[in-house]
Parts: sequence; C-alpha cells; structure tokens
Amino acid sequence: MTFKSLTFICISILFVISCTQDQRGNLSNIFMNKRSFEELVNNFENEERVEWQKPEQVLDLLGDIQGKKIMDIGVGTGYFAFRMAKRGAEVIAADVDDRFLEYVNNKSSKLKTSLVTTRKVEYDDPLLSENEIDHALIVNTYHHIDDREEYFAKVVKGLKDGGSMLVVDFKKDKKSPGPPKRYRVSTQNVKKELTKAGFTSFEVNRDLLENHYVVIAQK
Ligand SMILES: C[S@@+](CC[C@H](N)C(=O)[O-])C[C@H]1O[C@@H](n2cnc3c(N)ncnc32)[C@H](O)[C@@H]1O
Repeated sequence: MTFKSLTFICISILFVISCTQDQRGNLSNIFMNKRSFEELVNNFENEERVEWQKPEQVLDLLGDIQGKKIMDIGVGTGYFAFRMAKRGAEVIAADVDDRFLEYVNNKSSKLKTSLVTTRKVEYDDPLLSENEIDHALIVNTYHHIDDREEYFAKVVKGLKDGGSMLVVDFKKDKKSPGPPKRYRVSTQNVKKELTKAGFTSFEVNRDLLENHYVVIAQK
C-alpha cells in the first residue's frame, strides 16, 4: 500500500468517526442507543429502580431545593426532574435527544406542571447562560460526555456563586449492570476533570448506592 492511499484511508476513517460523534454523541451514547427507545424508557422508568437508585435519598444531598433553578443534564424520561419539581424546584430538563424531550413534555402536560421545561442542548454544550442556575444534576450521563474539562467549565459558568453540581454515575471498580467498564469514569477522574473545569471542592459518597457513586462538586 502506498503512503498516499494509507493517508486517504486514515482521513476517511477520521471523517466517519467525526460524523458519528456529531450525530449520535460519544461511544457510550452510541452503545446505549443500541437498544430501542421503548426499551430505554422501560429501563429508566422501571419500578424496581427506586430500590437501587434511591432517588429521594440522592436528592436529599442537594438540601432544600424549593424555589431553586436546576438543570438536569441528560434528563432522559425525567426520572429525577419530576421528583425535583415535586420538591418545588424549577427544572431545566436538558437532553440532546428529541425523543426524550418529547417524552418529558408529554409528562409535564399530563402532570399539569410548569416547573419542568425542556431544553435541547448540544453534545458539547449545555447552553447555559451565565449564573443561570443554582444547581446541576447529572445522573448516569457523566460518562456520555466527551471533552469533559471544556464541557463542565461551561456548567461552572452557568452556576451561580455558591452553586453545586451533583454527579451520579456507575462505579468503575465494581461489576454491575450498565455500561462496560471501559466507558465508566472513576471518582478520581471525576474530581480531576472537574477541578480542571473550575469546581473548587468535592464530597464523594460511595456508600449510599451499591453500584453508583455520588459526587457533589461546589463551584
Ligand atoms: C443513561 S441516560 C440517563 C437518563 C436520566 N438521567 C436517568 O438517570 O434516568 C443518558 C441520557 O443522556 C442523554 N445524553 C447523551 N449525551 C448527552 C450530552 N452530551 N448532553 C446531554 N445529554 C446527553 C441521552 O440522550 C440520555 O437521555
């Protein structure tokens, strides 16, 4: 094979990869979307989830959120978003996927709540304006984001002074249902990346949930 044809093949591969990333997000998101939308909805809304995800106890870690403005990044079906609205928070339900945004809008209409509003965001940008939110919540979605230092610097900008972000994601050192180990991010790396993004202090909780950690990062 000549050098010229090898270069052509490499450029073609890189082009295909970059197109895939634009349309379907990172490898983790592509992996998740191997399942049908219906399957994902059933999985996220599964009644048994309450036992292993402990959503109310996770939200307690945010303190009193009555009247607070919170972005739920990667909202999915709104499993956490509607629970936060029930506590009186104003929730920006952010996702890159129109199917989930439509699902959340339908649920908001059904529940007659104006506290959950959707925002179509970009894979590399939460589209927050400066000082827009008190908190961000990102559940099982941290590992779906690439170039996290840059991405979360945008979240830091969107947080008010004293604001915080709560990250829930899959433990990397524990075998459990969910994404393969290669897509998981360790708590050490979460702290490292978020420090570079501009967060200043962290609380890590590995005890509340069996298969997930919770990291609370302060602006
Ligand atoms: C595993 S689901 C988690 C859904 C929800 N947070 C939950 O815990 O039920 C990941 C969600 O993140 C969304 N997503 C993927 N990449 C994203 C990105 N770069 N920015 C925002 N949302 C993203 C997906 O469309 C999907 O709704």
